[in-house]
Amino acid sequence: MTNLENINWSSLPFGYMKADYNVRCTYKDGKWGEIEVSESEYINIHIAATCLHYGQEIFEGLKAFRGKDGKIRIFRPEANAQRLINSANGIKMAPMPQELFVEMVKKVVKLNERFIPPYESGSSLYIRPVEIGTSAQVGVKPAQEYTVIMFVTPVGPYFPDGFKPTKVAIYREYDRAAPLGTGKWKVGGNYACGMRATERAHENGFSAVLFLDPKEKLYLDECGPANFFAIKGNTYITPKSESILPSITNMSLQQIAKDMGLNVERRPIPVEELAEVDEAAECGTAAVCTPLSHIYDFDNDKDYLISKDGQAGPVVTELYKRLQGIQKGDLPDTHNWVTVLD
Ligand code: PLP
Ligand code: COI
Repeated sequence: MTNLENINWSSLPFGYMKADYNVRCTYKDGKWGEIEVSESEYINIHIAATCLHYGQEIFEGLKAFRGKDGKIRIFRPEANAQRLINSANGIKMAPMPQELFVEMVKKVVKLNERFIPPYESGSSLYIRPVEIGTSAQVGVKPAQEYTVIMFVTPVGPYFPDGFKPTKVAIYREYDRAAPLGTGKWKVGGNYACGMRATERAHENGFSAVLFLDPKEKLYLDECGPANFFAIKGNTYITPKSESILPSITNMSLQQIAKDMGLNVERRPIPVEELAEVDEAAECGTAAVCTPLSHIYDFDNDKDYLISKDGQAGPVVTELYKRLQGIQKGDLPDTHNWVTVLD
């Protein structure tokens, strides 16, 4: 059993720590079975499983938070359930019903309650559901059997500097998804596709890649692990594209922006428009809302300076505070986003 006595909850990396249990559920003979609880970190699968050969693998990411009041809050699990259904349909896997997904999420959080970081730490419990095609198939066809596994791990910020502005890079010679491919689903292959670019960005001293639309390379798409948004005057702008993941954090921030009286525009954003924005950030479950300082276009040797003083701008800061406030229970959950565990 993982010993938590000497853990410094405030300085956790975004990484894996063995929790006590994971939960699993399999789809066989056209139906989902019972939720199983496991202590093993391993799975035993067929050597011809479709997840190994033909990429039938999709996943999700969501978080649970411990509030000042001691309560445990899970942020928008229904939305992740729906996105897993969309991803499953996208690559011909068995969709898991929303209620079953949410029940599994609640169960895995409850079983691993001692791994939920304390309120003051600023850390949270990351929940990682993954679905794989498990039955044997040598011809290219969908599997007949599927397994959903959910594990949890306590995490700190995805980008080590947390809410400090970070730099992202634009390169035109890489894509993370094809124009009408799997970019809008949370398919593992998208991340494999983005790895060469992301490793190059890291080597160049950038925290992530800001991918462009794969068809014309004229518009902003999204970052490797997160969506992109910018603040221009009184408007929140975020890319509209067929090849980006519909981020639940981004949708939530758009609503919060409206609550704050901002206009919200979802539309193609030309790269050059970066010269006119006041603030920018990447957003996602892991990234939360990470402000951007510079966006460097390598092909044109152009540095878009977003934060002149190296600090997060006022609007991104307020959006971040409100989002975290709702997630942790410090602010009222006016949009019914939070599931409180009983
Ligand atoms: N875009 C990509 C490629 C991601 O991997 C993620 C993370 O899940 C996001 C965006 C953000 O989505 P969400 O806010 O639902 O976590
Ligand atoms: C998330 O934010 O949940 C993600 O999946 C992003 C990344 C860790 C792949």
